[in-house]
Amino acid sequence: MNDKLFENFFELDEVDSTNAEAKRIALENKGLNFVLWAKSQKKGRGQAGNSWYSSDNKDVAVSFVYYPENINVLNQFDLNLLVCNAVHFYVSQCVKDKIVQIKWPNDILIDNKKVAGILIENSVKGTKMEQCIIGIGLNLNSEVFPTELVRATSLKIENPSFNSTPKQAIFSIGECLEKLIRIADFTEAKAYYLNYLFAFQKLQQFKVKGQITEGIIKGVESNGQLLVLTQQGQQSFGFKEIEFIY
Ligand code: BTN
Repeated sequence: MNDKLFENFFELDEVDSTNAEAKRIALENKGLNFVLWAKSQKKGRGQAGNSWYSSDNKDVAVSFVYYPENINVLNQFDLNLLVCNAVHFYVSQCVKDKIVQIKWPNDILIDNKKVAGILIENSVKGTKMEQCIIGIGLNLNSEVFPTELVRATSLKIENPSFNSTPKQAIFSIGECLEKLIRIADFTEAKAYYLNYLFAFQKLQQFKVKGQITEGIIKGVESNGQLLVLTQQGQQSFGFKEIEFIY
């Protein structure tokens, strides 16, 4: 076994999606933990079937392939906590005097604008997680975005003196993620996540089943569902069941 969890680093000039390519590489390399970075990603995949935009050679499009030794499927969200915290920590180091938050389940915001998105694709064996493909898109050096992405920002926009290459950013995030995986303190990880959770304990507008509604975020359940106190009482929502209005 490698000393470093993510010692194997593959670098490609162009891919459709790093998550899709990582899945293909993993088929040929069963059980290997690795990182796949592409300088250019043409068909980045986002949450809920959306696409993900990143600018060639400027932004981060990376996938970490990880075979956990012992994570029960019921605790799949634990890995999401660690990944969000690692990206949040990195972003916080890069911008000062800005509010950096985690928007449930796994967006990273700077002053309410999205700087990073995470897409984790898991496969399961019995009751255990087998393979996790952790895709991270982080806007690093882009200074303009397609007009429809009204709420996108980058580290360069938020901090003009920011100066890092995608590869350096990936090493920093990978190092932090590896540390968090080794420590495996999910109580601490949950506390960090909640501490930076967007709208936590605040009255927030949502869209649920097409209706605008209000509620207070009370927490996140171990299966990852969002706990919201609404007029109907405390309710749990899956990712596709609730949309933030902000
Ligand atoms: C989101 O919708 O917020 C999640 C975006 C995830 C994008 C990253 S970029 C690297 C990896 N490869 C993909 O195709 N998607 C993820």
